[in-house]
Amino acid sequence: MSAAPITAAQVHAVIDEFPDPETGRGLKIMEQIKEVDVRGDKIHVTVGLATHSGAIWGDTLQAIRDRLRERLPGAPEVSIDVVQHVRPAEPIGAIGLTAKSVIAVGSGKGGVGKSTIAASLAVALKTFGSKVGLMDADVYGPSIPHLLGLEGQPFVQGGKLQPIDAGGMPVMSMGFLVPPGEAVVWRGPMLHGAITLFLRDTSWGDLDYLIIDMPPGTGDIALTLSQSLPLTGAVVVCTPQDVALIDAVKAIAMFRKVNIPVLGVVENMSYFLCPDNGKRYDIFGSGGARAKAEELQVPFLGEVPIQIPVRERGDAGQTAGNLADIDSAAYFERIAYNLVRNLAAQRAAEPPLPTLSVL
Ligand SMILES: Nc1ncnc2c1ncn2[C@@H]1O[C@H](COP(=O)(O)OP(=O)(O)OP(=O)(O)O)[C@@H](O)[C@H]1O
Ligand SMILES: [Mg+2]
Repeated sequence: MSAAPITAAQVHAVIDEFPDPETGRGLKIMEQIKEVDVRGDKIHVTVGLATHSGAIWGDTLQAIRDRLRERLPGAPEVSIDVVQHVRPAEPIGAIGLTAKSVIAVGSGKGGVGKSTIAASLAVALKTFGSKVGLMDADVYGPSIPHLLGLEGQPFVQGGKLQPIDAGGMPVMSMGFLVPPGEAVVWRGPMLHGAITLFLRDTSWGDLDYLIIDMPPGTGDIALTLSQSLPLTGAVVVCTPQDVALIDAVKAIAMFRKVNIPVLGVVENMSYFLCPDNGKRYDIFGSGGARAKAEELQVPFLGEVPIQIPVRERGDAGQTAGNLADIDSAAYFERIAYNLVRNLAAQRAAEPPLPTLSVL
């Protein structure tokens, strides 16, 4: 006697509750199951996924396929297609920024590569299909325009500043507003004003991610940010040597103090692979950030070795090229992937709907 044929209802029973990686809610309730077609032991499913989870579309499809093969009788043949599920960002709080995730990239110590990592992470997320904006919150020493080779002056349209376009990615920086080489003397309230100008009065459009490049050192900007909008969290960049790690620990404490969750640690300048002999040199030591992240129970997002072309591209305004070079792209893609995967895991673990607390 042959087994009973698989029905569409059985397929739905397996995938309806599968969590959408962006919202953590079931695919069915979010209207992301676009098609279920069963022919004998061949199953075809089309799911819609939002661009916010672009970095993990492949993983998500694989997990759905595995689940169907494991849970349906007779390990049927499963093919899955993905289409884009359009779900625009909602305006965030009083500030009205339309972004789904706002992520600050900071460190305790200066010069560890925050701006390089922030810009490359933004481009990596964009390469994965997400809609990304990049905000340079280093009001005193903006370096994003230089790293990405951007020029221009944002003009005002409809009462909002129009960001500068970097190959489809909106970018805002004090570097566009103040002539190069001119010192900016800001006091606390003015700093606050500049950040508000960038967050509230800039026409970012509909974003999956706003990546914020933080200045080194003090918590002023972090505090202003945390007061302006609910940040998704912060990524802390550090180099492996002790002196940088001490500062990274302080940065983690600082973010926690202003209630910005720490999403993970990136180790930059991890080691140097000598192009002449292929030998690895641990110039600043190695693995320190990973160990420290474990100790502090913060996810480790990845490492980036010292690569001369990364520095050269930075100087030449070609940082976006880090994602076009096979020798460097994988490091930044890995960080973007781990970040998105962790966010998805967090969402899936959250209660499905906001719960009302009983006082
Ligand atoms: N992995 C890397 N390999 C080679 N050079 C790098 C790497 N990461 C960063 N750099 C270079 O190091 C210098 C400092 O980097 P960056 O400006 O990104 O640091 P930062 O932490 O943002 O500095 P600041 O604290 O001044 O804001 C730049 O010249 C950059 O090109
Ligand atoms: Mg910087």
